[in-house]
Amino acid sequence: MLEVEGLHARYGQSHVLFDVSLRVERGEVVCLLGRNGAGKSTTLKSIIGVVPPAAGRVRFKGEDVTGREPFLLARLGIGYVPDDRRIFADLTVAENLDIAARPAAGGEGWTRERVFGLFPVLREKLGHKGGHLSGGEQKMLALARALVGNPELLLLDEPLEGLAPLLVRALAGQILRLKAAGLTVLLAEQNVGAALGVADRAYVIDDGRIRYHGTVADLKANDEVRRRYLLV
Ligand SMILES: Nc1ncnc2c1ncn2[C@@H]1O[C@H](COP(=O)(O)OP(=O)(O)OP(=O)(O)O)[C@@H](O)[C@H]1O
Ligand SMILES: [Mg+2]
Repeated sequence: MLEVEGLHARYGQSHVLFDVSLRVERGEVVCLLGRNGAGKSTTLKSIIGVVPPAAGRVRFKGEDVTGREPFLLARLGIGYVPDDRRIFADLTVAENLDIAARPAAGGEGWTRERVFGLFPVLREKLGHKGGHLSGGEQKMLALARALVGNPELLLLDEPLEGLAPLLVRALAGQILRLKAAGLTVLLAEQNVGAALGVADRAYVIDDGRIRYHGTVADLKANDEVRRRYLLV
């Protein structure tokens, strides 16, 4: 579903991604692991066109979409939840969801009601302003908002970061439910334990380069890679 080949990215003079290649097949949850500043967010931003790639190719469902603008990629079916959430603080929960809603291509898809099944707290806070929600609730709203857009591929940037352990477990469980519902996910995370609990395969990025990729079972068994690049 997603093929990234030889991606390079820069911020001005500073070259931060080097020859990043990765693939995500339909129905997979793939995680991109790495410590602070490793290049996880930049990889997602380059895929979604927020940071246009300096070189390399991005293909979505076989189509070359390299550097295409984020709204066009959203229309093609890629949902993106940035690490800073970007919910509308002055709009209510209901309004945040309604402006992002987009019918599914086939079948029922993700409706507001179905999303409330995952995040019941959002139903209780429908009339509350986004800016008045707790950090964890804002994370749920950002994810809910991406879902009602009915993406085929979801790019999640550190959805578990900064959450209390109980909430990490709850949200990880919800990501598993998304996978069971057939959604394809690329998950950038620093929380290695939680990410490996939900993913099928993993890529490890460090210093802007992919250092390892393999199944979750392989990475769990590879102490050296985990120690060298992930400090776990
Ligand atoms: N807007 C920017 N301008 C200049 N350099 C940036 C910018 N954003 C990120 N960088 C640099 O690019 C490199 C990769 O950063 P990136 O945010 O992709 O890492 P990350 O893996 O997402 O880290 P974190 O876990 O802290 O979110 C880092 O060296 C960072 O300092
Ligand atoms: Mg980041």
